Amino acid sequence: MRRSDTRVVLGLHRSRHDRGLLESALDLGIRNIDTAFNYAGFRSHAILARTAGDLLPHFSVSTKVGFFPGAEGRSEHSLEPARLREALETTAATLGRVPDVVLLHNPERSLGDLEPAAAADRLAAAAGVLADAAHADLCRSWGISTWNPQLVLAAVTAVGPSGLARPCCLMHRAGILVPARVLDIIDNLARALEVTTARRWGMSPFGGDTADGIWRTVALQPLMAADEEWSTVAAAFRLAFALPPVGRVAVGTNRPEHLGELVRALDLRVDDRNVSRFRDMLAQRQARAVG
Ligand SMILES: NC(=O)c1ccc[n+]([C@@H]2O[C@H](COP(=O)([O-])OP(=O)(O)OC[C@H]3O[C@@H](n4cnc5c(N)ncnc54)[C@H](OP(=O)(O)O)[C@@H]3O)[C@@H](O)[C@H]2O)c1
Repeated sequence: MRRSDTRVVLGLHRSRHDRGLLESALDLGIRNIDTAFNYAGFRSHAILARTAGDLLPHFSVSTKVGFFPGAEGRSEHSLEPARLREALETTAATLGRVPDVVLLHNPERSLGDLEPAAAADRLAAAAGVLADAAHADLCRSWGISTWNPQLVLAAVTAVGPSGLARPCCLMHRAGILVPARVLDIIDNLARALEVTTARRWGMSPFGGDTADGIWRTVALQPLMAADEEWSTVAAAFRLAFALPPVGRVAVGTNRPEHLGELVRALDLRVDDRNVSRFRDMLAQRQARAVG
């Protein structure tokens, strides 16, 4: 069994929720799993409790609320406080334990049609529900997870520093596929929310798909230390901790051997100077595109 390491978060978004994978994760020293109210067709919490209830105490469990069952089998997004509250209660009851973290799931999905002041109010109310849940022991702490952070940053800016409960963590995209514009926005969002690097969680380091042609063509050598051997997937995973700097990365796999490769990739070294240059180049390219 490998020493515990909190840097890898096993994300269950695309997972078969296989008990064997969770056992392998524990053997590999992984102590974090991330799920959501809506994963596995809104059954993720129930499946975990039924098939791996005895394993759950060995993990720090994060989950998310924001998506709800809608009409005709579709899911719909809502930041309605009563719905969030009910989801938080159902989550703890279904999991059979208090989740360690509950993240507000893609709040941008319910902010798009609103004026900045109304968006700020809606986000502040939703954040208040999660902060209250932490006080009421429905979760140990809370955070925000965002895929497209622009509207979230606009709402946080509009609400001002004193108007919003402060999240314990912020989950956002990470890795070499993240556009320069998004990197800048998530850095600004983390700053506005006063979330330190250690409490930032990267997600989706492969953009959800390592079969995509980009992973056969991308050359990552310049970004990695010169004296080591690695696969493109391992290097891309390691780089997700640097673009932008984060304390953890949520990654999905259904295969224990893939998980093992990811854990070993933690020991790889990146070329910090070239990573920083790469980011500058992305920013310059972005500036030229909009200029
Ligand atoms: N808005 C949000 O809140 C949000 C959105 C997206 C993701 N997330 C979080 O981030 C987690 C990860 O995101 P994701 O699953 O979308 O994307 P991802 O981690 O970028 O990609 C997952 C894919 O990578 C493959 N993979 C993983 N390790 C590999 C390896 N060593 N070798 C080859 N292929 C490998 C997996 O295939 P195999 O199964 O074959 O290994 C899987 O198809 C989610 O589970 C969730 O926790 C959150």
